[in-house]
Amino acid sequence: MRRSKLVGTVLSFALLPLTSTLPAQQAPSAKLEIQTDKPIAQVSPTLYGLMTEEINYSYDGGLYAELVNSRAVGNHWGNLEHWVAVTQGNAQATVEVDQNNGPSAALPRSLKITIKQAGSNEEAGVQNDGFWGIPDRPNTTYHASFYAKAASPDLGPIKIAIVDNATGAALATATIPAIGAEWKQYSTTLKTGQVPVSATNHLVISAEKPGTLWLDLVSLFPPTYKDREHGFRIDLMEKLAAMHPAFLRFPGGNYLEGDHISERFEWKKTIGPWVDRPTHPSPWGYQSSDGMGLLEFLEWCEDLHMQPLLAVYAGYSMKQEHVDPGPALEPYVQDALEEIEYVTGSADTKWGAQRAKDGHSEPFHLTYVEIGNEDWFDQSKSYDGRYAQFYKAIKAKYPQLQLIATTPVNGIKPDVIDDHYYKQAEEFFADVHHYDKTDRSGPKIFVGEWATREGGPTPNFGAALGDAAWMTGMERNSDIVVMASYAPLLVNVNPGGMQWRTDLIGYDALTSYGSPSYYAQVMFGSYLGKQVVGSTVSGGGPRFFYSATKDPDKGVLYLKLVNASSIPQPVDLKLSGATNIAPTAKVITLSSKTTQDTNTITDPKHIVPVETTIDGVKDSFTYTVPGYAIQILEVKLK
Ligand code: AHR
Repeated sequence: MRRSKLVGTVLSFALLPLTSTLPAQQAPSAKLEIQTDKPIAQVSPTLYGLMTEEINYSYDGGLYAELVNSRAVGNHWGNLEHWVAVTQGNAQATVEVDQNNGPSAALPRSLKITIKQAGSNEEAGVQNDGFWGIPDRPNTTYHASFYAKAASPDLGPIKIAIVDNATGAALATATIPAIGAEWKQYSTTLKTGQVPVSATNHLVISAEKPGTLWLDLVSLFPPTYKDREHGFRIDLMEKLAAMHPAFLRFPGGNYLEGDHISERFEWKKTIGPWVDRPTHPSPWGYQSSDGMGLLEFLEWCEDLHMQPLLAVYAGYSMKQEHVDPGPALEPYVQDALEEIEYVTGSADTKWGAQRAKDGHSEPFHLTYVEIGNEDWFDQSKSYDGRYAQFYKAIKAKYPQLQLIATTPVNGIKPDVIDDHYYKQAEEFFADVHHYDKTDRSGPKIFVGEWATREGGPTPNFGAALGDAAWMTGMERNSDIVVMASYAPLLVNVNPGGMQWRTDLIGYDALTSYGSPSYYAQVMFGSYLGKQVVGSTVSGGGPRFFYSATKDPDKGVLYLKLVNASSIPQPVDLKLSGATNIAPTAKVITLSSKTTQDTNTITDPKHIVPVETTIDGVKDSFTYTVPGYAIQILEVKLK
């Protein structure tokens, strides 16, 4: 339920929306006839899904529940970030990157901690500030691990602790008895007691004796969704599950392409033990740990019952680097074929066996493969040739796969085209009939990225109205628009966390919230329906939008009504073709007094769907949609 705001009397009058000071107004009535017995198209069961990439600190410190920032030491920019020396009393220590001493060929660097002086109660070591803090909760077990080696066994026990920034108190501590002279991974658990929930903490690794210690891949995980080892953050997964997403498009977006060919998402470098993952710079300005690798994306799909929509690198990177079609492109095509085998192959194929070795013996079901991302940016115009080369090779080996092109191509008809729309609400209102006249003979349409970009870091209610209007158009045309995914999905709302405004779900180290646009998607995803039914509309205001679908198995009509105007919209509804209409209908409403109103990390449930019922539903009745409202009427037809 909505909460009332505490504002001073005078100020609250000044802020009242214009409409409330005017005589009651309403838009001219709309006449809307729904032909409940006339299905005109099938609703795509995969219509609503998710799109993801490493942007806005989506993974480490976000969905991928890793709490240590820069767990693999050293980045593309050569900085040592988030790690500093810590000393108690008169202890002395320095921290630097050792460029020539790492735990593996993939990770040739490490943190070198030189402790010149230390003692009991005078510990020295290194601390990490996490992703805007290390969160802690009472009575919780955290899994910690790190690779380490010591110059001498005299260094003695190593302590790892979550420490309160304000008091210096250790909230949870574990001890590793000794560190050997060779690189080795050490693991332990840290358990909190009756501590307050907070994110103003840091992680400390320290010793009581002088010596030299090397560290890398320092990791700390809280409990995860479905207890998956090194899995996903629970609150974020629950929010995503509520959207009922049918698919996950990954790994990008620009993150697939990278700024340069050498910085693309190289899937083979994101699988297996962390120590074999070299990490890479994301085009969004920070290093990716690649903890969120190919298998983790697939496990995310598994956890939320989504089908993977795999985007393969197709020889174009964003700083206008491309690979010519022909022999030069062939290794990239082979790489994509092997990637598909890793996803779908049985354990007796080479790459299926690798997946089994990595911990997942069952193949994943795959229907869609996208070739590249936004290749209309490629000024060399090489995409026709690149797409054709990938298309022929993939279809030859996997004829059942549906291959998505990122822009229209000449010479070959793609199965699906990926359209992207980043717009303002008024632009979406004007474009809701975009797909009404699209040629039904194909290609099919995937709206792989779309969003109303109003508000930040997350969309405001005006954006949700633009989104909902646009969704009515996609839904009405979902015989041809087979899939759609909002982007970007996630944003860390701390200062510096966002690279792209506007993002669906916001979070900090401890909590998360859904924007009004998120709730609009939860509503549309929860009441999808299976058939688009015939309808006609006349009259009504210019910002009134609708879509009508039916689930014949449940005997239910879903009427989505969007009133993007501030004044109420009366609708004279005629439900033709139904013989037995239940007089009471469920109504789910998302509404606000202004378009600027929104949810935030400190007021996360300011605008949320509210469920009510209406009576008097019959073959003809008048229903009034409130101003600035997104509603779903669930009408029982039998
Ligand atoms: O969603 C943000 C970016 O927008 C995506 O990475 C890219 O595909 C698009 O340009």
